[in-house]
Amino acid sequence: MNENCQGQSFVSHIEYKMSHTSLVCLSDFEREAEQILPRSTWHYIRSGAGHEEGLVWNQEAFKRLRIRPTVLRDVSQRNLSASVLGRRVPIPVGVSPTAFHGLSHHDGECATARGAGAVGAIFVLSVWSTKSIEEVAAAAPDTIKWQHVHLFSDRNITHQLVSRAERAGFQAIVVTVDTPVIAVRHADVHSQFKLPKHLSLANFREEVMSLKDSKDMKGITNRADDIISQSQTWEDIKWLKSITKLPVIAKGIMTPEDAVVAADVGVAGILVSNHGSRQLDSLPASIEVLPEIVKAVGDRCEIYLDGGIRQGVDVFRALALGARMVFVGRPAIWGLAVDGEQGVAKVLNVLKNELDHAFALSGCTSVKDIKPDTVVHESRYSRL
Ligand code: FNR
Repeated sequence: MNENCQGQSFVSHIEYKMSHTSLVCLSDFEREAEQILPRSTWHYIRSGAGHEEGLVWNQEAFKRLRIRPTVLRDVSQRNLSASVLGRRVPIPVGVSPTAFHGLSHHDGECATARGAGAVGAIFVLSVWSTKSIEEVAAAAPDTIKWQHVHLFSDRNITHQLVSRAERAGFQAIVVTVDTPVIAVRHADVHSQFKLPKHLSLANFREEVMSLKDSKDMKGITNRADDIISQSQTWEDIKWLKSITKLPVIAKGIMTPEDAVVAADVGVAGILVSNHGSRQLDSLPASIEVLPEIVKAVGDRCEIYLDGGIRQGVDVFRALALGARMVFVGRPAIWGLAVDGEQGVAKVLNVLKNELDHAFALSGCTSVKDIKPDTVVHESRYSRL
């Protein structure tokens, strides 16, 4: 029996849809989640910063990339796995950190982590989760889990979160570097988005960060702005590296200049990301900046990408342009809203199957086969 975020059962409706043909691609999950979720929750998840220009560009930019297939290759044995931080992951798609999964399903991040684990995908737990680090670790012991943190003004807060993640078996620290302040999203203001009383920020003690006094998103944002360091610099990344043996990944890098500094400082990975266009509007799409970052950094650290991935061919395009793997934010939440753990697994499986087809139909049996000119910009053909 499944329950939605309000605890109502909707077993027959969703089981019917899952077992039939109406949930086939990610946009089907998006549509279904929009119907299931309360309006203000839906807009909280959907929206971007400012006038949402970048939100559109994140997806549009993928459509300008064309695949050049090679035929008559033996593609009977295909391997989608990627080598990430020294281990093989069966699928080059992970789940980016996103806040407040309890809004979308009563099992929150525990369900998302289990769903990701079911397909062997890496799960990144947001520090703003409604289930704690320890709860998620207990619920999904076999999932590869990475912990997301911010550089908080009080370094003890970051330090304690990192130590808890280490003890709980998380395997990397993902530090968001594009958020010295939290952006205003018009949609949240219009919809008067509030977090329901039954949810809490499970990783924080009440005196550090509580939702109790935060009547609306503005209250939560103001409090988060109080505790996130606005004076954060690369020195803080060096400090973060010094307090943990876990690999540190910088999330939110969008220029080759910053990417080179990140590599100089010794991060293990860079997650090229414009935060799903939820921070500064008018940034380029993540996929647009990927090639120049890959070129600047070479193999000095691993490079991943998120933002706008909506189908298997988008994963293929990102791998072709040099990403080691990609992550998805909103699509995992749509799966969670639609059918909890199974919904997350289904969304990831859709991407996996679509990617598998992209490999076979483009003549590739593994990432190694994707040559640099397998994916080209549309301008190559635009003389027509
Ligand atoms: C986010 N994202 C995000 N990023 C981060 O570093 N810390 C966080 O807590 C959150 N929270 C969050 C909540 C919600 C509802 C969304 C939609 C996004 C950004 C996220 O990690 C990722 O960068 C984007 O979601 C990727 O874009 P797509 O896949 O949603 O297009």
